[in-house]
Amino acid sequence: MITRVRAAACANIALTKYWGKAGPGNAPATPSISLALSALRTETVVERVRGGRDRVILDGRPADRGTRTRVGAYLDLWREQGLLRGNFRVDSRNLFPTAAGLASSASGYAALAAALSAFSPRRIGRIELSRLARLGSGSAARSVPGGLARLPAGPDPAARRLLPPAAVPFGMVVALAATGEKETGSREGMLASARSSPYYRAWLRQARRDDREMRAALAAGDLPRIGALAEGNMAAMHAVMLATRPALLYWNEVTIRLLGAVRGWRRRGLAAWATVDAGPHVVLLCAREDLPRAARRARRVPGVRGVIESLPGGAAEVIEIEER
Ligand code: PMV
Repeated sequence: MITRVRAAACANIALTKYWGKAGPGNAPATPSISLALSALRTETVVERVRGGRDRVILDGRPADRGTRTRVGAYLDLWREQGLLRGNFRVDSRNLFPTAAGLASSASGYAALAAALSAFSPRRIGRIELSRLARLGSGSAARSVPGGLARLPAGPDPAARRLLPPAAVPFGMVVALAATGEKETGSREGMLASARSSPYYRAWLRQARRDDREMRAALAAGDLPRIGALAEGNMAAMHAVMLATRPALLYWNEVTIRLLGAVRGWRRRGLAAWATVDAGPHVVLLCAREDLPRAARRARRVPGVRGVIESLPGGAAEVIEIEER
């Protein structure tokens, strides 16, 4: 019997964003394309326990009640499908600073799903694993294949890899614009935008156009086009967020300073573009060889709390299995 499994996954940052749900199970209303980041890795150990209760440890400490409930409900989904039996201790460790409020649900649920799949009585392939990870967090579906991955919109999609990490000619620099947790989680945020943002429908249409163009730009390896599309898509998503009532304002003054700085760098010859998720941090996209220069410049922007430079990352993987 398998008693303990260790698995890992990389977080990912979307070039074209998932913002909006088409139905239950984190069915995305928009297609999204992302890059997994090798520097943002989560390792998760899942162990069988006696007694009728799951336990959740996050970064060495018992998780708060909200996280415990959410992870417990996620294990229930696996148990209901007959993919898991019994109770478990989930010990998840982010190998990057989450105290800074960096989103970690993508790597967290992808690593958890990979670990759980080793306990399953039947084999779970990469596509099914991506679907299962999506049930935990929409963006986690994209961390399963890793590299450059695309999650289509629709009722029950899985993410597929567009390019393996070694074939991706660019990387990313994460510039931390604050410490602490974000205000409104993506789940509630998306629902609120669908309910009340006057631009939500326009966003859904634009997301489809951006997806088409992004795939073409990626196929052509046209970095300036990829960067411009990523910035435009990010700005459209934040316009929808801002117009949500009450407004979802994820940016702070450091976010805006960074967004302005990137434009200046570009004018002065550094080919870098910016994207922002449902939080204040700014993620820069640039060619692999420009990563150190982009990171150096980001560090000098006043208010930046930390900078993480990252190459493309790989797929979610099971690292170790213990049996008895
Ligand atoms: O997977 P979630 O529920 O954390 O949603 C991700 C939302 C964004 O990060 C804003 C966009 C994306 O595609 O990752």
